[in-house]
Amino acid sequence: MTTRIPLNFGWEFTSSFDESFLAGKGSFDPVDLPHCGVATPFHYFSEEIYQMRAGYRRTIPVPEALAGKRLLLTVGGAAQRVTVWVNGEKAAVHACGYTALTVELTPFVTPGRDLLLVLEVDSRENLDQPPFGYVVDYLTYAGLYREVTLEVREESFLADVFVMPALPEDVALPENAAMEDAAGTRFTGRVTCRVTCDGNKGTLLRQRVLDQETVIVEGEFAPGKETSLSVPEAKLWDPLSPALYTLETELWDGNTLLDRNRTRFGFRRAVFQKDGFFLNGRRFLLRGLNRHQSWPYVGYAMPASQQRLDADILKMELGVNAVRTSHYPQSHAFIDRCDELGLLVFTEIPGWQHIGGAEWQAQAVRNTEDMVRQYRNHPSIILWGVRINESEDDDALYEKTNAAARREDPTRATGGVRKHKKGAFQEDVYTYNDFSHDGKAPGCEPKKAVTPDMNRAYLISEFNGHMFPTKSWDDEAHRLEHALRHARVLNSVAAAGDIAGCFGWCAFDYNTHKDFGAGDHICYHGVADMFRNSKLAGAVYASQGSEKPVLAISSAMNIGDHPEGITGTVYAFTNADEVRFYKNDTLIRTFTRADSPFHALPHGPIAIHDLIGDQLKEEGFAPRQERYVKSLLNYTALHGFKNLPFKILFRAAWLMLRYRMTFDDAYALFGKYCGNWGTAGLRYRFEAVRDGKAVKCVTVEPLAEPHLTVTPDRTDLSEGETFEVVSLRARVTDKNGNTLPYYNGEAEVTVSGPLVPYGNRRCLIRGGTGGVYLRTTGQTGPVQVTLSLPDADAVQVDLTVR
Ligand code: GAL
Repeated sequence: MTTRIPLNFGWEFTSSFDESFLAGKGSFDPVDLPHCGVATPFHYFSEEIYQMRAGYRRTIPVPEALAGKRLLLTVGGAAQRVTVWVNGEKAAVHACGYTALTVELTPFVTPGRDLLLVLEVDSRENLDQPPFGYVVDYLTYAGLYREVTLEVREESFLADVFVMPALPEDVALPENAAMEDAAGTRFTGRVTCRVTCDGNKGTLLRQRVLDQETVIVEGEFAPGKETSLSVPEAKLWDPLSPALYTLETELWDGNTLLDRNRTRFGFRRAVFQKDGFFLNGRRFLLRGLNRHQSWPYVGYAMPASQQRLDADILKMELGVNAVRTSHYPQSHAFIDRCDELGLLVFTEIPGWQHIGGAEWQAQAVRNTEDMVRQYRNHPSIILWGVRINESEDDDALYEKTNAAARREDPTRATGGVRKHKKGAFQEDVYTYNDFSHDGKAPGCEPKKAVTPDMNRAYLISEFNGHMFPTKSWDDEAHRLEHALRHARVLNSVAAAGDIAGCFGWCAFDYNTHKDFGAGDHICYHGVADMFRNSKLAGAVYASQGSEKPVLAISSAMNIGDHPEGITGTVYAFTNADEVRFYKNDTLIRTFTRADSPFHALPHGPIAIHDLIGDQLKEEGFAPRQERYVKSLLNYTALHGFKNLPFKILFRAAWLMLRYRMTFDDAYALFGKYCGNWGTAGLRYRFEAVRDGKAVKCVTVEPLAEPHLTVTPDRTDLSEGETFEVVSLRARVTDKNGNTLPYYNGEAEVTVSGPLVPYGNRRCLIRGGTGGVYLRTTGQTGPVQVTLSLPDADAVQVDLTVR
């Protein structure tokens, strides 16, 4: 039987690897995995600081009892090339920073003698391997940034189990399926499986399908052939209700059990067609974001807790139904959580625009094979990206990567991200970065303008991004335009009818190279900041997908934040049916879906375009006069007095001629109903209303003093295969809970109890949002964390490490 031994604690680390380190000499910094080779500042640093040949060293006792066993080491992820040395001998080299390496240590080991394991990790960006060779818009970091495991195996063992679950053709959810439809669907599922054994022994495979821990069906098979089990009363894996099963496979030799493997899977049918993406029989519009796997300070080096949290944030806070793991395969902990949540994944081989020489290309093909083999049991993955992101056509290379993906996984479609139209098309899906929306142009290009083949599927893999970088502290008009651009693209894609979906660039801001970003080595392209705090644009996504009530208002109603004091139209981002708008507790107007210019979206942003409502009634105007005065006042309140459109000018003239109204009249009315200058205690309230009930409320009023709120992602921590990290997200708000976008500061963090800062000791706050990370230390007990700012009440968070 296989024993899995996590090897994450107690490594020795050097940032300058040399022969003496290899020989086991000297003492070096103790570190745990995941580990970032060098902690990075928040911003204003260069990738030069992590160019290194680092070394990780560990002694592993190999008792006599292990004679006859086989030892396999798996390195989950090392940035960017890892060489494995065992007792001074080179055992393997892995030239990919984003796939796992499994290497057999057995030939290098003598039972009864300790084994000296050294992992040399090279992070220099001149390596001849993807993604290197030219510029790259993301940092590639350093270190052994994912977990390492040792497996002690029998002489013969289960090397790989590839599960291909299938459902009958006639199982189909209705359009607009609800959770009950998905959860209630039952069918006879079929599990076909390719089992690869290593070693000479093994006469029988025994397999069983488990629902939780209940065995549903079992069967026996001869090794070497595809196995097949039929699962009665099977449940669907669907974003609405992602049922997961376990396939247990055993390798027997006569009456001896040699190995047992457990693989999680789900029954779903994911098909890309010319008219879109179909999941479990119904058309399913992919509404996703691109995710980089980096965090402030620690780069890629986050343990499972934070990897999983990102999936939760994407699905539950940002409301997306899909994620693209740009531009490389990401942690299994992240994808496992996508499986559990029903979050669909488009994953791809590492790379960025550049295609290198023969060795480089051979590695890209190997990366495709490794990616597919290592990730193909995840039900959440629906598409393999087999081209280097945004590279030129290269028929020979992409024939190979497509063939590799199809050979290793005949069940899934291939795609590959391009920045060019009508290119060579060896994949099943034409995936294209459509950056055509510039604020004025339509949200996206029509399918026929981009793909060379209308009979195959078309997907937009990126949009926005560099077209409109947006910081949390940009002015209000900028933050609103950022959100509206995302809404316009989502709306155009939904309206198109023949596009499989789109992935916005991107989920989270990220550190990057000098050629990109705002000059401080950050790309502010996220709909959330680097600490995963949502910007306004995040509410565009949240309001499409979330079940929880969402209401975000685009304006703090301060004219001074806008050139010439012109606020423009205010928008409500909500999934409610309507929004009630109050001024000092007087209901001005109820805005409905009819007030959203985004007709193709179920929950398009609603325009709050009327600040007056029925208030003019008290003036005793004639009906038309009232209508015209109202439109004039509303227009000027939102868009200013200059460049009035013809309609408004005509109405003004008409009011003057017909009703003898003067400019002074208009000015006085403006002051009374719109200006509000000098008005004491002016307060606006927006209520999101669902089924007639107010479910969420935003109150905006002039308030000065800041309030700090701190949200830990969990309050109970426990170490498992490695240390655990808790993120504390901080927000500085007014007393009504509205983020103060121009608040910058640094909260002091004091910790009493067994947690220590991970990355940075202070909680940086930019644009009213920020965060800090703490990690476990091996000790247990209660923890009190206090965050304090000079001008706000301190906040205490109570946590427990078990
Ligand atoms: C794309 C690229 C992404 C990112 C984005 C910014 O061209 O694929 O990695 O750089 O632009 O908008």
